[in-house]
Amino acid sequence: MEQNLSVTVAVISGSKRSTSATEVVTRAVGEGVVQAGGDCDIMPLGEYQTPPLNLDNETPADAERLTDHIRRADAVLLGTPVYHGSYSGALKCALDYCGFDEFENTVVGLVAVAGGSFPSSSLTHMRIVCQTLNAWVMPKELAVPDVPDNVDTEVGQIADEEYRERAHELGRRLVGHARRDYGVNTLLSEENEGAWEGCRAAFGLLLWRCVGPTIFPYLCEQGG
Ligand SMILES: Cc1cc2nc3c(=O)[nH]c(=O)nc-3n(C[C@H](O)[C@H](O)[C@H](O)COP(=O)(O)O)c2cc1C
Repeated sequence: MEQNLSVTVAVISGSKRSTSATEVVTRAVGEGVVQAGGDCDIMPLGEYQTPPLNLDNETPADAERLTDHIRRADAVLLGTPVYHGSYSGALKCALDYCGFDEFENTVVGLVAVAGGSFPSSSLTHMRIVCQTLNAWVMPKELAVPDVPDNVDTEVGQIADEEYRERAHELGRRLVGHARRDYGVNTLLSEENEGAWEGCRAAFGLLLWRCVGPTIFPYLCEQGG
């Protein structure tokens, strides 16, 4: 019965380049999603204007578009080029517009694509962000090193057959995990939840101090 549940995966490629190896690899994972009967919503960040978050400004339209796609998805794939042993600034900027609404109890697959041979630290950094948002991060992830040898950006295909199959496998597993229910909080998310509650309490106090004297002058005089 579970096999019939439709699954949509939001596939985010964290490179801004028009000929991006990360996009090639994330699209290959998307092929695996389709093999398993799922649908893909491919989102290369080059097509989104998501500047560094500034809470003083209105949320940009593209950030709304991005978060809307993620919220509606059943699972998310985060792909990044490895930059200085971590994930890209473009992906960080996009993720800062997201929160529990987008990621809580959502299955997430991770992909890192590196020019060199050590892509794994970027996967760890993305994993921590996702766990903090109470996402269910798949233990099996994909790291493609030595991009010039393994990814053909001209043809738009993973050149190495083994990495191509691993990408497909990740996509298929993503669909399988998205069909399950993971209603369990992570420790990191519970700490983060506390942080949000602290923010809410501080905001409430601020609001009370600003608006309270106007609405309830008598109470405020008594209460200080
Ligand atoms: C600013 C910058 C930092 C990089 N840092 C690393 C790194 O720490 N390790 C590595 O293996 N490759 C590094 N690279 C190479 C990229 O990981 C590689 O070019 C990647 O495949 C680019 O993906 P894209 O084609 O999707 O943009 C870096 C590239 C840039 C532009």
